[in-house]
Amino acid sequence: MSESGKIAVIVGSLRKNAFSRFTAQALIAAAPAGLTYQIVEIGALPLYNADDDPAPPAAWVSFRDQVKPAIGVLFVTPEYNRSVPAGLKNAIDVGSRPYGQSVWGGKAGAVMTISPGGIGGFGANHHLRQSMVFLNVLMMQQPEAYVGGIAGVFDEAGKVTNEGTLGFFKTFMTAYAAWVETHRPRG
Ligand code: FNR
Repeated sequence: MSESGKIAVIVGSLRKNAFSRFTAQALIAAAPAGLTYQIVEIGALPLYNADDDPAPPAAWVSFRDQVKPAIGVLFVTPEYNRSVPAGLKNAIDVGSRPYGQSVWGGKAGAVMTISPGGIGGFGANHHLRQSMVFLNVLMMQQPEAYVGGIAGVFDEAGKVTNEGTLGFFKTFMTAYAAWVETHRPRG
């Protein structure tokens, strides 16, 4: 598929069996046909340090090269201490620099936060949105997606066992596909 329909999916947890990774995979499976979703890994990114801009680590270059051609970016993340996990914030920072060469600007974005708890990662969801305003990522507003009780959603293989949640994942991805079309770069 051409790059014109590519969406970068970024998972905020580095854990192998992360609920956020299961959620990202379930969202990709629930998406309507038409766009290509690719998880872009963030776990090997060295911490951003502007001193390294002139000779960036290969992992930064690879990350930027994967995100840049995408027309959209979908974040699926847990909340750490009522905010965005450090690994995800680092990936956002890596993609935003060198100054004037951000890979984020103009993309159609969305975020789903997850938690075993009841608040569903509300704090992380809105801290992420704050960064996206600055980076000019056009974030979908509705439906909002704070998915609590995530530990009860999947079986051991990562399959969604709860029909209501699966229905919401489909609704969310249908809305996101429409959002991407609305904001697709023209010309
Ligand atoms: C958490 N967790 C958590 N949960 C939450 O709802 N709000 C929070 O502020 C925090 N803070 C927090 C900090 C740290 C350092 C850890 C390790 C965990 C719990 C978290 O939601 C839970 O571990 C999820 O399972 C993590 O997501 P993944 O790794 O399963 O995707």
